Amino acid sequence: MNEITKELHRIVDENGPVTFKKFMELALYHPKYGYYTKGRFPGGISGDFVTSPHTNELFGALMARQLIQMKEILGTKKFTIIEMGAGAGYMALDILNFLRKMGKSEEFNYVIIEPFDNNVLLQKHILRDFIELVEWRSDTAGISDMEGCFLSNELLDAFPVHLIEKDKGVWKEVFLVPGEKGFDEVLMQPSSVDVEDYCKKWLNDLPDGYRTEINLEIKAWIFDLSRVIKRGFVITVDYGHTRNEYFHPSRNRGTLLSYFRQQVSEDIYSDPGNRDITAHVNFSDVDYWGKEALFDTVGYSSQCFFLAGQDVEKVIEILEGKKRDPFSPRNAALKSLLLPQGMGESHKVLIQSKGVETDVQLNGFKFTNKKSRL
Ligand SMILES: C[S@@+](CC[C@H](N)C(=O)[O-])C[C@H]1O[C@@H](n2cnc3c(N)ncnc32)[C@H](O)[C@@H]1O
Repeated sequence: MNEITKELHRIVDENGPVTFKKFMELALYHPKYGYYTKGRFPGGISGDFVTSPHTNELFGALMARQLIQMKEILGTKKFTIIEMGAGAGYMALDILNFLRKMGKSEEFNYVIIEPFDNNVLLQKHILRDFIELVEWRSDTAGISDMEGCFLSNELLDAFPVHLIEKDKGVWKEVFLVPGEKGFDEVLMQPSSVDVEDYCKKWLNDLPDGYRTEINLEIKAWIFDLSRVIKRGFVITVDYGHTRNEYFHPSRNRGTLLSYFRQQVSEDIYSDPGNRDITAHVNFSDVDYWGKEALFDTVGYSSQCFFLAGQDVEKVIEILEGKKRDPFSPRNAALKSLLLPQGMGESHKVLIQSKGVETDVQLNGFKFTNKKSRL
């Protein structure tokens, strides 16, 4: 039997049914057998899933353009970038590379928050030409009064979520017990008052049998960032929806998915620890809890518009050192990042600010800003 399955069966024997959230937490982050902790970073072209930084250096370079503008807005001498969930480290590499090409790398500090040693090793290798510019920390605990930008790509979709279902007019939570294929689901009373309160506040009108997820880790995360940041921005890039889209009556089985060797599946229980499990991000929650934590929302848009606002032609010219070549392999990468069919539309960018003028105009929202829909 799979090690994560064994561990969960042992926990159930001792303490009774476990929440789906606990299952997801162990499957992804068990210190020894977790999907993200046990070996090589599982994403990338030859891995289970491909993220934007793995497609091409353009993603990081365009992000760097946005960071340069943010630095100008803050007017600080040194600007701190904190990246959490950096994976293999390619976004950091491409940002630092672009900043160096612009002669600006010394004006920035780059901090990577990485709790897992396997990832630190890989990131140090990928970032070997920038080692003196990067600091690694296992969490945000020792950081405060930060001026700069907190950045993440596909971090929030990897936070463990509560799985809930409406049963005879009452919201219940999915718990697991040992079963024939590893686990059977049982519906029980929600595991915390916070889950109950969330259901009461946002999910009253949904019909019986409706199933969805709640990502309460986002709330703790954004409150922690409010403690960390004195003046600056939070850029969150991920696949997700506004609340109305997320809890649309037709999305009645939620958004949980599993990834293995570039194949996406709704079978989230098989082979835990060896497959990715993700839930889409509810960006309205990030906006709402962000405001409770004293952030303003600067903008929200699809990734394609956000990146297009960063002066793509100019960035390619800087990267290639010449005018844009129509046959450049970067053009293929551009398509997957910028065209609405791919990550350009599925992925959204939310930017929040703290201690910054509320009417700040960021390049990323030059073409569109849908924050009023959140
Ligand atoms: C889907 S991967 C994305 C990696 C990378 N950002 C990319 O775009 O390729 C999610 C990453 O978030 C990391 N992660 C999840 N929770 C974290 C936390 N609390 N602190 C730091 N990293 C975390 C996981 O270990 C994993 O490396």
